[in-house]
Amino acid sequence: MTSWQSRFAAASADRTGAYEQVLVPSLFHPWACLLVGQLDVREGSRVLDVACGPGTLARVLAGEAGVSGTVTGTDISPAMLSAARAKPVAAGAPQHYLLTSAAPLEGVLDGAYDLTCCQHGLQFFPDRPAAIAEWYRVTASGGNIAVAVWSPLSHNPAFAALHDAAAAVFGDDIAAAFTLPWSMCGDEVAALLEEGGFTEIRHRRRTLPTVFPGGIGGLRTVYRFSPIAGDIQSLTSNAEKALTRELTSRLEPFVHNGVLSMPTRADLVTARRP
Ligand SMILES: C[S@@+](CC[C@H](N)C(=O)[O-])C[C@H]1O[C@@H](n2cnc3c(N)ncnc32)[C@H](O)[C@@H]1O
Repeated sequence: MTSWQSRFAAASADRTGAYEQVLVPSLFHPWACLLVGQLDVREGSRVLDVACGPGTLARVLAGEAGVSGTVTGTDISPAMLSAARAKPVAAGAPQHYLLTSAAPLEGVLDGAYDLTCCQHGLQFFPDRPAAIAEWYRVTASGGNIAVAVWSPLSHNPAFAALHDAAAAVFGDDIAAAFTLPWSMCGDEVAALLEEGGFTEIRHRRRTLPTVFPGGIGGLRTVYRFSPIAGDIQSLTSNAEKALTRELTSRLEPFVHNGVLSMPTRADLVTARRP
């Protein structure tokens, strides 16, 4: 595991509250709805959501799979799974949550799922081919797979501005925290799936706005959830002002009437398990 991968895993454990309150509605739930809208989830499907976080995608999938289906969410973070379990049960398929790494997927049986999904999780895994080998193992023959990753920072200028503001205040080493989530592109995912034995690979790019109604202030939550939260907390008041200045000037093109709306591009890749 790289140091940033382990620091992101720790961030998941420590700051689930901020993630739930701000990042789920602004970022993850809209993507979950978009991803599921691209899939043909049949009534009665057995669905797996790997790196499910607080169950955002799992809950949307449950509505599609219906009461005769099942949805299992897995994650390495006990805090994320506690947040998922604490929510009122979503309508549709019963949802179960399982604590496991992405590879191995402990406790998940061979060929047990008709559809395996992973939304904005693959880029955090220390061994991506091993995770894909696990998806192949647990997906039934003829079943489907759906993966979403954010496109690289070069295609996400508003998130690149977050990186650049952090670099200006903390330096490049700390700002590197803002590269891991945007470290994969769809072609790379597609190539990994092909190497892993999947067929009928289809790659789409989609853009959604990530909206922070509180303007630049809402962004503090992104930083609070990120692995640089400790660095932010230890800022002197001058450095804090410098960070606010950097963010304000770099994100100004994305603020309208006090609302920050960051265009966000992701790559969605689907494939079939032969
Ligand atoms: C950006 S969040 C996405 C969560 C969820 N898929 C969603 O769309 O809301 C990434 C998730 O990956 C999980 N994760 C990171 N590394 C992991 C690993 N090696 N195995 C399993 N889950 C992991 C984290 O705990 C976190 O919940």
